[in-house]
Amino acid sequence: MAPRAKGRGLLRGELTMMELINFSDEDLHKFTKGFSEKRLLGKPGAFGQVYKGRNKGNNYANCPRKVAIKISERKDEYVRIMWKQEINALSSISHANVINLVGFADTEEYYALVYERAKQDLEGFRASNKGELDAILLGVASGLEAIHSAGFVHWDIQLRNILLMKDNTVKIVDFGLATRKGEKMKSAQEKFDVFCFGNLIRELVLLERKEWSPTKCPRILLADICIVNNPDDRPSMATLVSKLKVPCSAMVNWLLKLEKCACIYNNIELENVDTIEEYDVVLYAQHTTRV
Ligand SMILES: Nc1ncnc2c1ncn2[C@@H]1O[C@H](COP(=O)(O)OP(=O)(O)O)[C@@H](O)[C@H]1O
Ligand SMILES: [Mg+2]
Repeated sequence: MAPRAKGRGLLRGELTMMELINFSDEDLHKFTKGFSEKRLLGKPGAFGQVYKGRNKGNNYANCPRKVAIKISERKDEYVRIMWKQEINALSSISHANVINLVGFADTEEYYALVYERAKQDLEGFRASNKGELDAILLGVASGLEAIHSAGFVHWDIQLRNILLMKDNTVKIVDFGLATRKGEKMKSAQEKFDVFCFGNLIRELVLLERKEWSPTKCPRILLADICIVNNPDDRPSMATLVSKLKVPCSAMVNWLLKLEKCACIYNNIELENVDTIEEYDVVLYAQHTTRV
């Protein structure tokens, strides 16, 4: 019978919700064929390295066959804090756009985290069409909204911490820096993630099209409102989710009402334009005639 551990108690009562599997060193060796270099995923980060793993036995009914295993480079207080923060956050958040943590390990040589495995991260990713891009943005925004409503701040939203599953579902990963919102300036803390989300939109849109400067693309305007200096002026993730769900015309109308965007959209003919593609054409035309 596989060792199973109720989260609470194992890490001094800091875990909250889900049951996690307590893997042994032997299990993880088996899953990764002895941590074979061929099985490395992504780039090594502050914590260590991530390996592709396969759960072959029947021991773990609740563990998917395809897993990713993050192994700490060493064992010290620094990585232990990251490991604990990640377990604390991920065992408190259950959402389709947040990676599923299956279990952990605390061996003599390393700390480990075991997750469901994704297809790729978004570093260097180019969406093949706008629908795909918008679905990714909505996925990230929804995941972040869930993180904030569970009382956490991620602090490290960037392309390599966003993964795509085989069915293109978006998953937020890397909760090594995630903390519970402190009592003071709760909203300003969340708005740090909003700022990073704005940067992420910019990177994804700029990667999508190199041909022209997309300064008047509605998505870039949305990004701009996320990265304004004053955190109070940035929208909440809940507002962003609601704006990413409605047709583009409604999103642009909302942006138009915001003082900071109105000046950019001034004098642009937006009537009879319903889809994001049509907006881009209108805005692109406006852009080129102005230059
Ligand atoms: N569940 C996963 N499935 C597939 N790849 C993953 C998974 N988790 C992490 N990775 C890959 O490993 C990289 C590093 O993982 P991450 O959790 O961000 O650790 P670090 O703290 O070292 O940045 C990610 O950028 C991604 O490429
Ligand atoms: Mg990372």
